[in-house]
Amino acid sequence: MTPAQSLLREATGLSLSRSEVERAIKNRMELTAVADTDAYLRDITPEELTALVELVVVPESWFYRDAQAFSAMTDFVRARLAADSGRLVRLLSIPCAGGEEPYTMAMALSDAGIGPRNFIIDAYDISPVCVERARSGIYGRNAFRAQDLSFRDAHFSSAGDGDYRINDAIRQQVRFKQGNLLELAPGARNGLYDVIFCRNLLIYFDKPTTKAAIAKLEALLMDDGQLFAGYAEVPSFCRHGFSPLPYNQAFGLQKEASAPALIRPAPARVSARPAPPPSRPAAPPPRNRAAPPAAPAVAPAVDLLAEARRLADLGDIKAAENACRDHLARHPESAEAYFILGLLNELTNKPQMAADYWKRCIYLQPDHYEALCHLALLAEANNDAAGAAALKARAARIYKRQQAS
Ligand SMILES: C[S@@+](CC[C@H](N)C(=O)[O-])C[C@H]1O[C@@H](n2cnc3c(N)ncnc32)[C@H](O)[C@@H]1O
Repeated sequence: MTPAQSLLREATGLSLSRSEVERAIKNRMELTAVADTDAYLRDITPEELTALVELVVVPESWFYRDAQAFSAMTDFVRARLAADSGRLVRLLSIPCAGGEEPYTMAMALSDAGIGPRNFIIDAYDISPVCVERARSGIYGRNAFRAQDLSFRDAHFSSAGDGDYRINDAIRQQVRFKQGNLLELAPGARNGLYDVIFCRNLLIYFDKPTTKAAIAKLEALLMDDGQLFAGYAEVPSFCRHGFSPLPYNQAFGLQKEASAPALIRPAPARVSARPAPPPSRPAAPPPRNRAAPPAAPAVAPAVDLLAEARRLADLGDIKAAENACRDHLARHPESAEAYFILGLLNELTNKPQMAADYWKRCIYLQPDHYEALCHLALLAEANNDAAGAAALKARAARIYKRQQAS
């Protein structure tokens, strides 16, 4: 890592390539008329560092991005208020980029009939430019990529030139601040938030920084609160004390200690003990490549997989493995059976065997999201950062494709 890469990593947590950093520094050196890189780095002021950081952040966001998260969050807040109608529900959006995410949270809650006195949203981003844009509340075409734009008619007015300004009623629900997630002092705010959105940030962090960021978020979230992550970030949370919630395509998580086993989805329970798996919210029902051959089965084949899961949950790994193998004898191309075998081997501390099964699984079903996430976790555990990143990126592409269809 070059000194410039270290400087930016220290300031932001971002894992940046050498060329990204060099490009940003060259740009700032031209603008500040400094000719020598060493001198630029040696004499850098806090203001100049902030300007440099602006050039490396990725402030990409839009309203109702991954919309299911907002419905799941709204249901959760509604349930909170049903239990205590007078309470103030506190929500956090970090990073908030230009405000699209926290304003969407506010619109979703307001549309659900939740009154302004019942919720407040804090929103942080490291970039002062983003925070200023968010406060201004004015957005162009790029922020409106959702298919259903009825929210724009309800909560925006025209700002001219094709731009739209968010209405004051929504704006007043969000408090924007400039801040670095890694430097937030949880002390005063410990366990403050009922809901946290932290989406599309950890994908830019390396392993130790991800761990540190999750520890911050864990401290900020109430023990019975819910956190919403980006689709490729779920595995990292599962590695560090969170477990997936059974929402569809919302990527919700809760603190592991507070997770009642009953509400976890069945596949999650199978592997929940040593290393809880990511949810597979986006994956379609298990599919086999080939039509199953005429089965001389006594019980329907699908029951054997259900039985395997049930046995695994009871801790009878051997019997669960046998059920999978019986299923494979009838359905040799069953990706799901290989997936469960992978989980069973992970449970019994045989990561290499687990990896082999998951590889077979994705050979048979290349869009098996959860198997890809598990392989990414294993690659991370083996310090194979490039392999893990490639697997996460592949899982992310699959999720996007499935969402688009
Ligand atoms: C891709 S946007 C994500 C915005 C939004 N959460 C979403 O998913 O649409 C990433 C944002 O992270 C911010 N960021 C980068 N490092 C950060 C840090 N250490 N703390 C807080 N924000 C950070 C960037 O400025 C950028 O606006």
